[in-house]
Order: sequence, then C-alpha cells, then structure tokens
Amino acid sequence: MCGIVGYIGHREAYPIIIEGLKRLEYRGYDSAGIALYDGTNLKVSKTKGKVADLEQRVADEISTNANLGIGHTRWATHGIPNDLNAHPHYSNSGNLVIIHNGIIENYDSLRKELISRGYTFKSETDTEVLINLIEDVKIKEDVKLGKAVQIALNQVVGAYSIAVFDKTKPGEIVIARLGSPLAVGIGENEFFIASDASPFIEYTKNAVYLEDEEMAIIRAGKDIKIRKIKDDSLVDPYVQELQMNLEQIEKGGYDHFMLKEIFEQPNAIKDTYRGRLLAKKGIIKMSGVDDNIEKFLNANRIVIVACGTSWHAGLVAEYIFEDLARIPVEVEYASEFRYRNPVITNKDVVIAISQSGETADTLAAIKLAKANGAFVFGVCNVVGSSIARETNAGAYTHAGPEIGVASTKAFTTQITVLSLIALKLAKAKGAISNSDYRYHLQELELIPEKVTKALTSDTHIKAVADTYKEARNCLYLGRGYNFPVALEGALKLKEISYIHAEGYPAAEMKHGPIALIDEQMPVIVIATKKGHYDKVVSNIQEIKSRKGKIIGIVTEGDTHVKELADHVIEVPETLEPLSPLLTTIPLQLLSYHIAVMLGKNVDQPRNLAKSVTVE
Ligand code: G6P
Repeated sequence: MCGIVGYIGHREAYPIIIEGLKRLEYRGYDSAGIALYDGTNLKVSKTKGKVADLEQRVADEISTNANLGIGHTRWATHGIPNDLNAHPHYSNSGNLVIIHNGIIENYDSLRKELISRGYTFKSETDTEVLINLIEDVKIKEDVKLGKAVQIALNQVVGAYSIAVFDKTKPGEIVIARLGSPLAVGIGENEFFIASDASPFIEYTKNAVYLEDEEMAIIRAGKDIKIRKIKDDSLVDPYVQELQMNLEQIEKGGYDHFMLKEIFEQPNAIKDTYRGRLLAKKGIIKMSGVDDNIEKFLNANRIVIVACGTSWHAGLVAEYIFEDLARIPVEVEYASEFRYRNPVITNKDVVIAISQSGETADTLAAIKLAKANGAFVFGVCNVVGSSIARETNAGAYTHAGPEIGVASTKAFTTQITVLSLIALKLAKAKGAISNSDYRYHLQELELIPEKVTKALTSDTHIKAVADTYKEARNCLYLGRGYNFPVALEGALKLKEISYIHAEGYPAAEMKHGPIALIDEQMPVIVIATKKGHYDKVVSNIQEIKSRKGKIIGIVTEGDTHVKELADHVIEVPETLEPLSPLLTTIPLQLLSYHIAVMLGKNVDQPRNLAKSVTVE
C-alpha cells in the first residue's frame, strides 16, 4: 500500500532509492517518483507506471551526486494514477518535499481551509494537502521543519508514514508514522528509511521500527532522535538485528517471485515447525501458547480475524480446531468484525492471522478485541510487524519474505502454525487420543517431502493450464477441509489471471453455480480419498452430466475420479486435516501457469497490493 524509501548519508542516494523502490514495488505500482537533493539542486521526477518507467525517465536528468533522497511507489487512494498525483509532492513555496503512505481522512476540510488562505493544489491527493499544512504551520508558527510536522500531524485524522525534507535546510529528513510501517536502517553516519527493511538489507542489519504516533528527525552523522508526536516526549530507539538476507528477497533463478515462493514451500513449512514439532517425543513447543495455555483452554470460543488468503487459512483452522480440539471457532473478515459491534468478552481468544502483520483492518480488529478484554494471539510472518507487536502473544510463521502479491507460502505456513496450535490444545484438553495425536505429529513432519512430491506435477499442470487458459469462468469445489482450499484456489486465479473464478462447497453447487455449468466451464474439484470422497464423486457426476470440464485434484493412485474427470492432478496421501497443505499446491501452480500464458504480470497484478495498510 505504497512503498516509501529514503536515504541520507555519504553515499550516492539515487541507486539506493531506485533499487529500494524495486523491492518495495510489491506494495503498489500505479506510479513512482523520486526526489534527490545535493544541497543546492533539487531534482524531482515522477511518472505514472512502474519503477522501471521512472528509471527510464530519469536516466538522463538525475543528479548523481545527491546524498539525500526520497522515493515512492504508489497504490492510488486519492486521485487516479497519473504523473501529477504521483509522489513526491511539494509545498506551494517549493521548499518542502514529501512522500506519504496512508490516507489523510480529513484532507477535504484541511484543503478547503488552505485554499481559503490562498494555497493552490496541482494534484488531487491528500498528500499535497498534508505538505501544505506543514508549510502553513511552519510559516505561521515560525518553527523548524520537525516542529511543523509535529503540529500538523496533530491536526490530521488518518493513517500515514511520511518522509519530508526542507530544501532550505539540507542534511535532514523528518519521518513519522501512524498506522503504516516505517523502518530506519542505521549505518555508519548514514540512515536508510523504508516501509520495510528490504531496501537496505545489504547496507546494514541494524534497524529501528517506528511505533505508531512516533516521529524522528534524521541527520547524517548524528544519532536518531525519536519523539512521540502527541506530547513531544523522547523515546529510546530500540535497535533490532535483522534476520533477512539478500538472497531471500531475490528471485534466485525463477522467472517470478510467485513461482519461487511456491517451490520454497517444503522448506518454508519445515522452517515453520522447526524446533516446535518434536514428533518422536510427541511434543509441540510453542512458547506463545505454552505461556497462555489456560487462556486457550478456558476460552468460550476462538474468534479468528483476517483478510484475503489469511482469512482462508483461518477457515481451515476452524475445521481443525473444532474437529481435533473440540473448541468452537468463528472466522471473521477483519473488515466486517471491526465495524459490526461484535460480542467479544474476556472469555474469548481472538487469533489474528496476517502475512504482513500490517493489514489495517486486521490491526483495527485486534484493537477492538483487546478493548473488549479478549486475549489476542497473532499469527504473522513479518517479524516485528505492527500486528506482531499489538497482539498479547503470538507465533511467527517463519516463511521468509513473501514478495509475490499472490500469497502462497504464507498460506501453507499459516496452516502449519495453526495445525500445531490445534494439536497442542487437543492434547492439553484430552480431546484427542494419544495415538491419534502422535500420528498427526508424524504426518505433519512428513508434509514437506509430500509437498515436494506434489510439486513434481508442475509440467503436467502446465499442460492442463494450456488447455484452459482461454476460459472466462472457473468453478472450484471442495468439501470439509478442502472447501477453504477451493476458495483459495479461486482467489489465486482471479488475482493473477483476471479470470472470474468462484470457490464453493461442493454440495452447495446445486443451489446456484450448477446453472453456470456447460461445456465451456472448467470445474476444479478437490476429491481426495479421505475427504467425503463418495459425496464429492457424486458432485463430479452432476457436473459431468451437464458437460462441465472436470479437473480433479486426487489422492495418488486414485482410479475412480480418473475415469470421470477430463484431467486429474495427484497429490500424496495424508491425514484429512493436513490435506489442505497438499491440495493447495496444484491450484497455485495452475493459476501461475495460466497467468504466465496469458502474459499477465504475475508478481504485480493490476489493482492489487501485497499489504493493505488502508481500510
Ligand atoms: C492483500 C494481499 C493478499 C493477502 C491480504 C491479507 O489483499 O494481496 O495476498 O492475503 O492482503 O494480507 P495479510 O498480510 O494480512 O495476510
């Protein structure tokens, strides 16, 4: 949801900013811009389109000796993606320059007020309003930039992470955060600013993450000074050591991040359970759960809040928690939960699932649940993210950076973490027999090698993709544990190929979607051996009699569905609760290949962003 990057120090800022923007492009890619300042000359360049377009545009005109710069890659909120609305934005005097991620909700009233005092605006953005508000305060109150930013932000309603500099005061960048992430990389006499740490990972492993309602004035060669925006109190910077490495955020020989991340799943799942799952000893160690086990066991119910793919992982978790641990579960879209006045008490445990840990709706749902006394547990991938910090306890998925906008390894690793928690609680409650418990643990341990096996169908899946790439609609069906997988499969196809797809519980097909079935309609049916197999086979018969094209996702060695379906894709056998970890794989690959064959931008699908930090 917009990526921001900045540099101040002794190096040339341009290559750092441009490379940083490429790494942050997953956050938005409607337009991009850069401002470079060498103490005398200010160069600003911005364009509709991708960072590559910006790079082309600035090739001839950019000053290469600027040691201060800021850059932005945009996901449009206020104003269509065009050159004018692209960031950076200036104040009316041309002295103040800003980049912004977030939404200023009261921008309209602020804009009218500024217009009444003679300010003019070139763009339709809330950001241009903010930079002029800062300028207005600076002039009226006769204060320095940092103070002006602070006063202005106290008048603002909304969410932001910003970086601002003043060309009359070289050598200083002011940054602030509320609701949108902001990391500062600390080098030797230099600072890097970014929405996440990936732009500066090769320069420093030391980073400070700004908390909400904090701002900092950054000067090369000086210490970082962090203050609370509201009361001006000083905050001790907490310097974290980054775990990420450069290799993790590069494509490593794959054509796309999405494909790399699909193939990373065996290792990602292993990394998720490493040190936690001791199958031989029959132990699951998870400190976030161990330390709060009574809260889980005494809860009336578990409420899961999430968005997008993470919500689908939540649905899988509902099946596994109820089935194995016999704990009632409700799964809610965070965006609905936060506004529907839900009944939440201190007898509820809320689990928030989020890859990025920054999704605005999920964050707001957590705050609401906490305010109502619930114990909130986070399942996040990004270490140190807002959700990881806001929750009472949690478990990281340890999937490594996920850069492709369509989520893949985040989904399977979320299911892995949630399965571990469910099994742990099932054991603690005595809801599962010891032998069953141990069997599940052993099977979970085998999942990475079974995922590896499922991935060997890639070439076959590519051929299936070729047959159906021209389809305009697709139906995905599954029952039980594999109903959420059908939803996720349909979402993957929609996201990256723009083919309309719907996921449905297989039996519900006859209450509507069956009307859509004809010889043009591919129907992807998850029909694994243990998952209500006979019932799903009947559903397949119903599709066949209406001439639908059937792609069956089946257990290795299945012959029955093979006779009925137009194509089958096999996955290894496992226990039903763990089957989503395998059945998801061919659906990810199918979407990927169709999108590539259609010439779509797989890693940066139109209109989407990896992390939605606005509501
Ligand atoms: C966006 C992404 C999805 C993701 C969803 C929730 O829509 O494009 O891939 O599932 O946000 O994100 P989160 O980071 O909270 O899991």
